Amino acid sequence: MSTPSTSTARLALATCSELPELDGPDQELRAALAERGVPTDVVVWDDPTIDWATYGHVLIRSTWDYTSRPQQFADWTQRVERTGVLLNPAQVVGWNLDKTYLRDLEQRGLPIVPTIWLDPERHLDARGIHTRFPAFGDFVIKPTVSAGSRDTGRYDASVTQERALAITHTKNLLGVGRHVMVQRYLSQVDTVGETALVYVDGQFSHAVRKGALLEGPYRADETKGVLYREEKMAFREASVAERELADRVVAELADVFPELGGPLLYTRVDLIPNDDGNPVILEVELIEPSLFFEHAAGSAERFAEALIARL
Ligand SMILES: Nc1ncnc2c1ncn2[C@@H]1O[C@H](COP(=O)(O)OP(=O)(O)O)[C@@H](O)[C@H]1O
Ligand SMILES: [Mg+2]
Repeated sequence: MSTPSTSTARLALATCSELPELDGPDQELRAALAERGVPTDVVVWDDPTIDWATYGHVLIRSTWDYTSRPQQFADWTQRVERTGVLLNPAQVVGWNLDKTYLRDLEQRGLPIVPTIWLDPERHLDARGIHTRFPAFGDFVIKPTVSAGSRDTGRYDASVTQERALAITHTKNLLGVGRHVMVQRYLSQVDTVGETALVYVDGQFSHAVRKGALLEGPYRADETKGVLYREEKMAFREASVAERELADRVVAELADVFPELGGPLLYTRVDLIPNDDGNPVILEVELIEPSLFFEHAAGSAERFAEALIARL
């Protein structure tokens, strides 16, 4: 069946069923696109009634419920690309779905939050898990596939009950085949905070400060059914060291994806200071990052123009 060329030019903003109208900042983006003569459909990524061939371009936005079924999401990205352009592309989504991409960045000489990686295939017993935790200080347990701080907990290594809770948390994740990351809690996140740097077409756009998010051990009831943990954000002027590191990440990504022949439409680099105060990479968000347009005047318009140039 042939589709009329006018309809293949449509642009979809992909979201999840819990946010059928997108979140507020992305509504700002939608308005900026409309003002520039580009209408959009807001579409739920796993809605079985959608004919994706209708869309020439699909921009991933608030698809935050995919982490419980990453394979279904990856399949969806492939399906969209059979008939249209996905932003960011499926290949990039596939790489970025699992935080093991941090190992690639580390091998490329970039500083990441020091991490011990636990593989479910090793069938570690409680003792094997215990010996991989730090001997003192606070530490973090999180799965390699996650977003919005879900399934993530913070533990005090010197408190016996907390070590026991951390072992249970880790075992539960490994038991369902998930890969687990063990990190020291970098406590400057409590004072300096986390910095998210947003790049559009490989150019720095704006940065925000995110307050610390982890208060204690993982509690299943706390984030169950919750899309993301409440975040306290504010505009921030990125430091020179943060800009330098995030610029290096962006440059390195061009090398990770040479086939793309240019920068990604959007990149968000999240940094926290290590104990020496030097920024290290917490994560690089290339799938569905909040882009924090509400904290930087003109950023939604800038993004809209970069997107329109690609249509
Ligand atoms: N090693 C760490 N030290 C301090 N805080 C951390 C650490 N790892 C995670 N956090 C906190 O947990 C939040 C979520 O972790 P993150 O790695 O960004 O995963 P995601 O956002 O994908 O769920 C961070 O924003 C930060 O507040
Ligand atoms: Mg994060």
